[in-house]
Amino acid sequence: MSIKKPSSHSHLEEIVPYQAGKPIEELAREKGLKTISKLASNENPLGPSKKSIEAIEKNLCNLNRYPDMNGYDLKKELSNHHKIPSEKIILGSGSEGVMTYIAKAFLGAGDEVITSSNSFIGFYIIAKASGANLKLIAPKKSNQFDMETIEKSITPKTKLIYLANPNNPTGTIITKHEFEMLLKKCPPNILIIMDEAYFEYAEDYKEYPNSLDYDYPNIITLRTFSKAYGLASLRVGYGIASPEIVTTLAKVKPPFEPNLLGQVAACEALKDHEHIKKGIIENKTEYERLFKYLVDKKLSPIPSFTNFVTFYTKTGENSDWLFNQLLNQGVIIRKLGANNMHDFIRVSIGTKEEMDHFYESFDKISDEFLKKMKG
Ligand SMILES: Cc1ncc(COP(=O)(O)O)c(C=O)c1O
Repeated sequence: MSIKKPSSHSHLEEIVPYQAGKPIEELAREKGLKTISKLASNENPLGPSKKSIEAIEKNLCNLNRYPDMNGYDLKKELSNHHKIPSEKIILGSGSEGVMTYIAKAFLGAGDEVITSSNSFIGFYIIAKASGANLKLIAPKKSNQFDMETIEKSITPKTKLIYLANPNNPTGTIITKHEFEMLLKKCPPNILIIMDEAYFEYAEDYKEYPNSLDYDYPNIITLRTFSKAYGLASLRVGYGIASPEIVTTLAKVKPPFEPNLLGQVAACEALKDHEHIKKGIIENKTEYERLFKYLVDKKLSPIPSFTNFVTFYTKTGENSDWLFNQLLNQGVIIRKLGANNMHDFIRVSIGTKEEMDHFYESFDKISDEFLKKMKG
């Protein structure tokens, strides 16, 4: 007699779980290495603001209590920061948390979701898990989103368009002009997620559109404390949208997200402008050094508006080889096979010391690698 088992949704069968960058401790254990440079998850290498750490320490004794489910203080800080009413803000466990609320509230079997095929894997997984059909539009040769084809792909079944701006893993942006063209052509019943996880790195570029400057009731802007604010581990993100959308999302949000330490740390992080400024300046200096290094090696890096750079390796085998060679020397970078970009590698920008470790390690194997690139 066959034993019956619980069955999950059939559409989950094709989903491959998200693979995060290799943790530092795991590599140190596996290879017996002392110095590890993790350049795989686009984190802020300087860490969080001291003010956030103080707030965390002060609140450690309150861990027996549930956090404020309305996130009153953090919403108030964000409301002052962005000059918007608190009613337009939904907090979440990371911006991915907010993505799951959006999927729960708005997506179901048969709904169509349009995005670029070289974008954030985390969103693909969440959208697919909802049963929606993902329409992945091939990027332009320059690796930028093909916004014209994205617009033309809209059908009566389209429920949502997801745009990461800047995009991960390419680091490219959608320009103001491209965004405005989309807004003109997109019917107002289609939600547009503007995922601005790397906003702080891109905001000073003239061509970069801040989606909060556009007052459209179908835009949901996502931001996070995981990148420039250096709080990835605490899982704090937020969405900004019309009060109607926020009210809907609040119905499906687990009540106590984000956690207490995340909420208090994020409040302080927002106020520490100096820390953010320092991180952005140091990132820019190291970005220029990394970009030049890759250009000198003729590895065609993609110009990036973020804290990472993606470059061409010609084949998936070359990507695997380079990844393993650097891993053996304690440098963790990111392969992009899950994005169908097997012939690219992504390097997050670390501290000067971490980047020196990357260059020294790469230099040791670069002759052999460049031979493979020619072969
Ligand atoms: C484009 C993009 N969106 C969202 C996220 C997830 O951010 P969070 O830590 O806020 O969930 C990432 C993380 O790498 C990302 O690259």
